[in-house]
Amino acid sequence: MSVQSKIRRNTVPQIAARKGGDPIVSLTSYHAHTAAIVDKYADFILVGDSLGMVMHGMESTVGVPLELMIMHGKAVVRGTQKALIVVDMPFGTYEESPAVAFRNAARIMKETGCGAVKLEGGARMAETIRFLTERGVPVMAHIGLTPQSSHVMGGFKTQGRDEDSWPLHEADAKAVAEAGAFAIVLEGMVEPLAAKITKQIDIPTIGIGASAECDGQILVLEDMLGLNEWTPKFVKVYGNLGPAIEQAVSDYAEEVKNRTFPGPEQVYK
Ligand code: KIV
Repeated sequence: MSVQSKIRRNTVPQIAARKGGDPIVSLTSYHAHTAAIVDKYADFILVGDSLGMVMHGMESTVGVPLELMIMHGKAVVRGTQKALIVVDMPFGTYEESPAVAFRNAARIMKETGCGAVKLEGGARMAETIRFLTERGVPVMAHIGLTPQSSHVMGGFKTQGRDEDSWPLHEADAKAVAEAGAFAIVLEGMVEPLAAKITKQIDIPTIGIGASAECDGQILVLEDMLGLNEWTPKFVKVYGNLGPAIEQAVSDYAEEVKNRTFPGPEQVYK
């Protein structure tokens, strides 16, 4: 028996069964050490393509390569035991056709050991979601503000401010749910629309900037830890680690410069 097979992780059906029940807790994580901490509290962990911006200083998520997602996905799977691990499919790896999407999703699952993938898009991705789920790839959908389409959307804008646009978002949610998605991220969406969609579909909605009306919540870990200079307005900062890291680095630099840096004999515990 392998070590991994002794690990009892949350499963896709368990997450799906939480619809309307206990709120689903989730966060992003990109590396083994933070994932090990998050794993104690999260029902699922998303290796989001936001890592391109957060970890690698990119302007948007559009440039994130598949290999980077696989590398970070492997690290998060290695660092965790309990949470379901979901890995984002990056831009350009699934939109062309269901077959291309399957090839890349299968690569992500085989190489990382994750339990599901996430992709952006509503009704236009329904055929692909059905193709993947029928072939053993669990899919989390993502609608509303979809950062990979930010060039088309004209930036990162809250969705649903205009009530006339609601039917389109509702149709997106229904289409991905009917196609077999096990959960759906609602990003940057006004509260009444998120609440309406949450009532209309029978899979859990996971909100990010989409109100407490959703079945669960996700935040980007580095945002809620205060590590990013800029965070979206809706993010509550639970831990202000940026200044704490800066203080530690500056203390270290001072000690090195002043030759007060401790030798091993002063540090041994
Ligand atoms: O890439 C990401 O981190 C995400 C979350 C914002 C949901 O998709």
